[in-house]
Amino acid sequence: MTRPFNFRMPREVIFEAGCSALAASKAAALGAKRPVFVTGRSMAESSELARLLDGAKAAGMEPLHWREVEPEPPAALLYRAAADIRDFGGDCLIAFGGGSSMDFAKMAAVLAKYPAIRVDEMVGSERVPARGLPTVMIPTTAGSGSEVSAVAVFSFPEDKMKKGVASGNMVADAALVDPLLTLGLPAHITAAAGMDALVHAVESYLSLGTNRLTQDLALAAIRKIVPNLALCVREPGNIGARTAQAYGSLTAGMAFAMSGTAGVHAMAYPLGGEFHVPHGEANTAMLRWVMEYNLEGCSEKFVPIAEAMGIRTEGMSPERAASAALDAMIALGEECGVKTRLRDFGIPKEACSRMAPAAMKEKRLIGNNPRKLTEEAVRKIYERAW
Ligand SMILES: [Fe+2]
Repeated sequence: MTRPFNFRMPREVIFEAGCSALAASKAAALGAKRPVFVTGRSMAESSELARLLDGAKAAGMEPLHWREVEPEPPAALLYRAAADIRDFGGDCLIAFGGGSSMDFAKMAAVLAKYPAIRVDEMVGSERVPARGLPTVMIPTTAGSGSEVSAVAVFSFPEDKMKKGVASGNMVADAALVDPLLTLGLPAHITAAAGMDALVHAVESYLSLGTNRLTQDLALAAIRKIVPNLALCVREPGNIGARTAQAYGSLTAGMAFAMSGTAGVHAMAYPLGGEFHVPHGEANTAMLRWVMEYNLEGCSEKFVPIAEAMGIRTEGMSPERAASAALDAMIALGEECGVKTRLRDFGIPKEACSRMAPAAMKEKRLIGNNPRKLTEEAVRKIYERAW
């Protein structure tokens, strides 16, 4: 029998080409009259967003567009957003963007309703005391899974760290996954987000907190991502590949929403916190080296992953199947053009020794890793990755 699990999802998850057009009606169903569309600067000018704003006005609402989300958003920016939302009288947040915008909206929704809450006190598991304003998530990349997860990650520049807030109170009310929004996304963003999704699937499958449903979802995600990601990078307008990748990202998000991620994410955070390496790129850079470490003693766990990647494992030892799976992950990252060495990001070698204790602070993720991670092991992995 499988281990128990707790599957917390938005009340509605819609996956359909064109479904982002439902933004206004979903917000209205949540009682919104003054919805706030939350975006970063790059999505702020998109014609799709203009259509959604027009749709909200046509439905008799008075929308606000808050467009200041920064990549890897600093926690302090949340207070400004929350104050602006309160001043406007916003009653629902609609995130339109990648993981940064969705994470931001999930936390801003809580702060807008409860001004006394401090973000740094919410870091960790289940510290958010109540649900905030209703939220609708519209991902425009295929990777973060933030539309269905309970996690939001922020940077804290004063201590050069990225930290995660995980709480059932931050699960969105509705997620509108519209693969059409990812058409034409630039290659490097497609690649980084897509590799992030692959890492979500692999890490949640291997996580010590995994369960049968996580594993089924993770393998389904791997089956979609592996044959389609490079195709999305090469052919940005390939709707079949984009749809498959969006489905892979969504199912990987559902998988890690239950079981969490592990060592790759923990070790990627200091790359973002101190050196501002974008999340997906940081994960891809760490993937190979953490998985190499995980292979030892955990090979059998990689066999179903290898099979989901399309590797014929009959007659192979678990060790061979596991290293074939790892080779295929590395090859996919390379084919997509994502960097795999820390030095390629301009990170100095001596940073490895201070990033190790920083990564160990991600106890939630470090503790999930299938092979026990000590600070010494983490430092050595960083050095190999350098
Ligand atoms: Fe991630």
